[in-house]
Amino acid sequence: MPDFKPVRGMRDLLIEETKQLNLIIRNARKVAKCYNYGEVTTPIVESHELVSAKSSDEIRNRMFTFQDLGDRAVALRPEFTASIARLVTTVLKKAPRPMRLFSIGSVYRYDEPQRGRYREFWQSNYELMGSNKPEADAELILLTNYFLKALGLKKYFFKVGHIGIIKGILDQERVAEKTQKEVLHLMDKKEYDEAFSQLKNDNVKSVLQGLVEVKGDDIFEITDEMRVQVKDYSKARDAADNLMEILKFVASSGCSIDSIQPTFSRGLEYYTGLIFEVQVPELEISLGGGGRYDRLIELFGGISTPAVGVAHGLDRINLALQIQGVEAKDQKAKKIFVIPIGEDLRIKALNIVEELRNSGLFVEFEVMGRKMGKALEYANKCKMDYAVIVGKSELKEGSVALRNLVKHEQINVKLENLLKKIQE
Ligand code: HAM
Repeated sequence: MPDFKPVRGMRDLLIEETKQLNLIIRNARKVAKCYNYGEVTTPIVESHELVSAKSSDEIRNRMFTFQDLGDRAVALRPEFTASIARLVTTVLKKAPRPMRLFSIGSVYRYDEPQRGRYREFWQSNYELMGSNKPEADAELILLTNYFLKALGLKKYFFKVGHIGIIKGILDQERVAEKTQKEVLHLMDKKEYDEAFSQLKNDNVKSVLQGLVEVKGDDIFEITDEMRVQVKDYSKARDAADNLMEILKFVASSGCSIDSIQPTFSRGLEYYTGLIFEVQVPELEISLGGGGRYDRLIELFGGISTPAVGVAHGLDRINLALQIQGVEAKDQKAKKIFVIPIGEDLRIKALNIVEELRNSGLFVEFEVMGRKMGKALEYANKCKMDYAVIVGKSELKEGSVALRNLVKHEQINVKLENLLKKIQE
């Protein structure tokens, strides 16, 4: 008899390993509930055309592809984003925005097997569709932070960039799409001479060189410096401003960003704005990564829809927990919707959101800039327990309005008593 083993890069997860994976999956589902992402299940087998459009050469060349018995070119999904984009362009075309969708399951890439790198691995995936606001971008970073913190991971760090900065320069200089891809890829690998040799224009080279040299400890100073470097390129400047806004939302909610990387570009081709990854010091591979992709839905034939998302590698998170000697636990909670009344109260409102989440509640933040009536309508539709309304006059008194959406009662509550009142 042959000595049967799993196929190279594939693993059997025995009882204890399956138990641990399920614990992480339960936590990922809690995060989805807490941030109000509805779970959807899509097929593992997708059309090859769908999953290869706008992914990246790296992923395209490492897909498990085959012809099915009906002679269709298909592939095992290498990620969830394309499948979710397919849903949003078809069956969910008319669903109300924002749409927050969560998926969890196995994905497949023919990567070289090594510690933390498998050919079958698990991802928890969160996509927020329909908002182009910086608070939506911030939500995906905060959600990732929440997930890792809730699991008890002791030390991890975020690496953040914005694809619109370099793309803004290259677009304005009319550099061809193919060359742009090469330049971004080479700059990400820090092969700057090789990257610059792809470009003819000396001015562009010197602006890009300037970006490479931007260094510092303070994330806001670095972003400001990047803005100065690209001052002659309007789209790149807007991208730096956008990054600054996102960082303000994230930092003011108690999540620290450790490095801003002007030349960082993630592999996937669909990104148009913020990009980020999270790592632990003990491993050189990322535990999760995501970013903004505002053109994919349109490219798939849907109505133009801004979108931002993240995927977490559950096997790598598991590995990081083991390395840091952490025993992960389960957690539970109530559904709250926080509405800022007016643009200038968004930062304060997001602070409240994060504080409530840190206390283990399921909290969704209003990211559509809607008036209170519309926002409450949405909160009722989503069957939330409470709305926290952050208004200027109440805030002056150190209070917010707490509306019980089940009993239809509303009271003003001092911020320091908010959590206690909700938990009563
Ligand atoms: P990604 O960076 O390709 O992004 O993958 C996300 C995570 O999957 C990685 O950070 C890593 O933890 C895990 N991962 C990737 N390859 C492997 C592997 N061979 N073995 C184990 N874990 C692995 C995406 O997949 C995008 N769809 C994320 C996204 C969602 N962007 C917007 N929305």
